[in-house]
Amino acid sequence: MTQPTFDPSSIESILHEERHFNPPSDFVDRMGSVYVSSLSDYEKIYNRSISDPQAFWTEIAEQLHWYRPWDRVLEWSPPDAKWFVGGQTNICDNCVDRQVRNGHGDETAIIWEGEPVDNGGPEIRRLTYADLQRETARLGNALKKLGVRKGDVVTIYMGMVPELAIAMLACARIGAAHSVIFGGFSSQAIADRVTDADSRVIITGDGAWRRGKIVPLKDNVDQACETLAAGNRDVDAVVVLKRCENAINWQDGRDHWYHELTAAADEDCPPEAMDSEDVLFLLYTSGSTGKPKGIVHTTGGYMVFTYITARYVFNLHPGRDQVYWCTADCGWVTGHSYIVYGVLPNRVPSLMYEGAPNFPAEDRFWDIVERHRVTQFYTAPTAIRAFMKWGAEHAEKHDLSSLKVLGTVGEPINPEAWMWYHRVIGGERCPIVDTWWQTETGGHMITPLPGATPTTPGSCTLPFFGIDAAVVNEKGEEQPANTGGLLVIRKPWPGMLRGIHGDRERFLETYWRRVENMYCAGDGAKRDEHGYFWIMGRIDDVINVSGHRLGTMEVESALVSHPAVVEAAVVGVPHEIKGTGIAAFVTLESHAEPSADLREQLRDHVAREIGAIAKPDQIRLTDALPKTRSGKIMRRLLRDVAAGTDTEQDVTTLEDLTVLAKLRESEEE
Ligand code: WT7
Repeated sequence: MTQPTFDPSSIESILHEERHFNPPSDFVDRMGSVYVSSLSDYEKIYNRSISDPQAFWTEIAEQLHWYRPWDRVLEWSPPDAKWFVGGQTNICDNCVDRQVRNGHGDETAIIWEGEPVDNGGPEIRRLTYADLQRETARLGNALKKLGVRKGDVVTIYMGMVPELAIAMLACARIGAAHSVIFGGFSSQAIADRVTDADSRVIITGDGAWRRGKIVPLKDNVDQACETLAAGNRDVDAVVVLKRCENAINWQDGRDHWYHELTAAADEDCPPEAMDSEDVLFLLYTSGSTGKPKGIVHTTGGYMVFTYITARYVFNLHPGRDQVYWCTADCGWVTGHSYIVYGVLPNRVPSLMYEGAPNFPAEDRFWDIVERHRVTQFYTAPTAIRAFMKWGAEHAEKHDLSSLKVLGTVGEPINPEAWMWYHRVIGGERCPIVDTWWQTETGGHMITPLPGATPTTPGSCTLPFFGIDAAVVNEKGEEQPANTGGLLVIRKPWPGMLRGIHGDRERFLETYWRRVENMYCAGDGAKRDEHGYFWIMGRIDDVINVSGHRLGTMEVESALVSHPAVVEAAVVGVPHEIKGTGIAAFVTLESHAEPSADLREQLRDHVAREIGAIAKPDQIRLTDALPKTRSGKIMRRLLRDVAAGTDTEQDVTTLEDLTVLAKLRESEEE
């Protein structure tokens, strides 16, 4: 595996942003209480967290419940970190049972709103910590009855319903690792992940509501099971939540109704005492090469890190009528860390919404904010760009005065979108926390603290406590201000990934070989003269579509698996809403006739292989791909071609490409 060579000086500082925003002067008043309320406080705490991490993390970890205290805070033998070594805890206990023990059993833990709306309005459910305790215990016992043991991997493929959070917590409760697969992924994606994780139990639903339509979850699982059976892999049990009441097929012996299993299960299921370094979950994410990688997170460090980042970054305060809403899906890491695991231990209600932002109309999110009096709101730049396009009037119809902190995550936010968010949604009253992090980091790494950090549109500002982030060249030397380089983390942190499931070599190669003993995030970045970080995008063949990573090679493999395709090259192309769209250059078998119909077929084929998120925005059928003399596809050229012509009708011909290729050949080699 070779890494593309990267020339840090090739990243130029692209933005010259002059706008700065201090935390609003009435922020402390509006919030009632703020954990970190000045930049100098931030600096004091940050400096201590770096000079004495053991003391810093000890104080945080002690705020949570452990069955057995740890012997050592950290064992670091690069690139392997163990946190809270020897300690035993359970994250479900800390999210749920601990709140009940402390007398908060009847407080709301999850507010859920369904997508369908009838005359009585949408369906709303409020689950207390006591409800979660009972439901996670029942499902935990039901899973045990199906043969799930400590250390097994349970696959979860569901819509955004409370039972999804319950399923995650139930696994954690009994010490099983979960692997949540985003409900928008295809049956092939399920089969791949189930195989890689060697998972034998799947929790799903009959269907999921999305923009008024039913996503056929169970059909997809059935198909995945067929694929798995063809490869001689068995799924022992499929647990099915009834949600949409759509017709489904049923396989006796394998399939079980969620409601029947849990109704029959005992309510007593004490959380398992887990070693701090026991696996909590796998979460698959795309890389530049090959199949998706199962990122491994363990129990103690992840728990402490998500708890404290959620607390400080969103200023979560229990008992102050806060309602926190993150619009992500639990199928992504954002949902893991900032809908479930980081939020529940802070005893602030976490709002979950089932459906689309434009159902039944484009004001749905603002309607939800108004009705539930949402105080902290966390979403993605791609969503903000869609809101901008739909128009400010949808937000202006609603009373958004409850909002106090706004957050973004997933990709660099363009300054226009930042300003729109600040003005139209935040009413110029709300700090914006632009949080840089990754599936691999577990939680927020570089982010403003809302009461402390002055913000500037497009910068994720300063590192969180304990995070030693830097921009370096390939030798690991720090770059001067305003010079591009590699974003690295130089010291271990509690939420860091512990590996890629089953692939040690890929773990070393992807994150640790580029710069010695530093975690290399795969992002290019610069720091400005104030030390603020600016993320400039991926340095590998990964494209960030709507805030989610896709490997170009994954999409290429999907295309090439179609019988009409000989070869494919996929590149990112600027896209108004998604940030980056997907352009595919495809050469066909000689018998295949290029046509609009075939392009549509190829698009659908990719959706079937990976999921709708990977559907190319442009497909260009060509007779050949431009290559260097050594046979490397000239991606830079393809990127230019894709970005330069905006109509997908346009079929770039062999002649054009060879001419262009010849022109660029010398440069590329
Ligand atoms: C990649 C991680 C972290 C949850 C969502 C995505 C990009 C993420 C930001 C941000 C600029 C960002 C990076 C990163 N990214 N947040 N605030 N500013 N870029 O998780 O799928 O693991 O992707 O998303 O490129 O490496 P992910």
